[in-house]
Amino acid sequence: MTDTPRILVTRKLPQAVEARAAETYAATLNPADGAYGPDGLVAAAEGMDGLLVAPTDRVDAALIGRLPDSVKIVATFSVGYEHIDLEAARARGLVVTNTPDVLTDATADMAVLLMLAAARRAHEGQTLLRAGKWAGWTPTQLMGIQVTGKRVGIVGMGRIGQAFAKRARAFDMAVHYYNRRRLDPALEQGAVYHDTVEGLLPQADFLSLHCPLTAETHHLMNGDRLALLPDGAVLVNTARGPVVDDDALIAALASGKLAAAGLDVFQGEPDVDPRYWALDNVFILPHQGSATVETRNAMGFRALDNLDAFFAGKEPGDRVA
Ligand code: DGY
Repeated sequence: MTDTPRILVTRKLPQAVEARAAETYAATLNPADGAYGPDGLVAAAEGMDGLLVAPTDRVDAALIGRLPDSVKIVATFSVGYEHIDLEAARARGLVVTNTPDVLTDATADMAVLLMLAAARRAHEGQTLLRAGKWAGWTPTQLMGIQVTGKRVGIVGMGRIGQAFAKRARAFDMAVHYYNRRRLDPALEQGAVYHDTVEGLLPQADFLSLHCPLTAETHHLMNGDRLALLPDGAVLVNTARGPVVDDDALIAALASGKLAAAGLDVFQGEPDVDPRYWALDNVFILPHQGSATVETRNAMGFRALDNLDAFFAGKEPGDRVA
């Protein structure tokens, strides 16, 4: 390793983050922000000591097997790390870190935005206005669903789930949740625990997903489980697209089983299942959950903190492999 570690930053990061990276490291940045494919990433990693990657980089076992020996750490600019094969990383002695905590509030805020926008038919209102077709206020126009006072179900009561619950309580919502482990009462704050997803769903007028994508949560919200929601429920997904089975969700939205959905994440991003475009009762955004200046800076600094610790011979605070 050279005195100044060499790092490859695979995507364009906020200016303050890139400035710090360039100050601390011999950093190869990506100002054009084109995503490296596997071959490009392997080639660009030549001679690097570490990689600062993003969720758009697929660091699977095949890619890990092709990385130059010089690469000792992969720090991802994300809390989620399903794009990295941790087992393969461990087997190769590659350290992997993520960026927890710092995007909790921004993501919980986004879930509230989606919940309100879906329930209050924001997409239809915007469309009406932007098409120049609004003829004025009427007593029955675009009547949506009241959020205040309803029951909300949360799948995954980790940091983001708890932050969302806090916001839901401000709307006088009764909070129900499923989590692999029940929280301490101090953290539950009166939320009702369900030890199965199936037990939670019938209680959820609104359902917000906050679980990581794993083999167990892939297509967790399938047709059978969506059928357990009360008629007219609203689903919100700021977690990962594949937690929801698109076929089942689209059918439930089209039939009216679900009143609406608010989605920030999609299976196969950046592609979006085109059937969503035909549904007026879906409010969608392009994976913007953590996209605030404050949060994206904090994510970058957190990734750099992990690299700094590693290259100083210390244990990185957010090591996941
Ligand atoms: C993450 O950090 O995992 C997010 O999805 C990116 O905002």
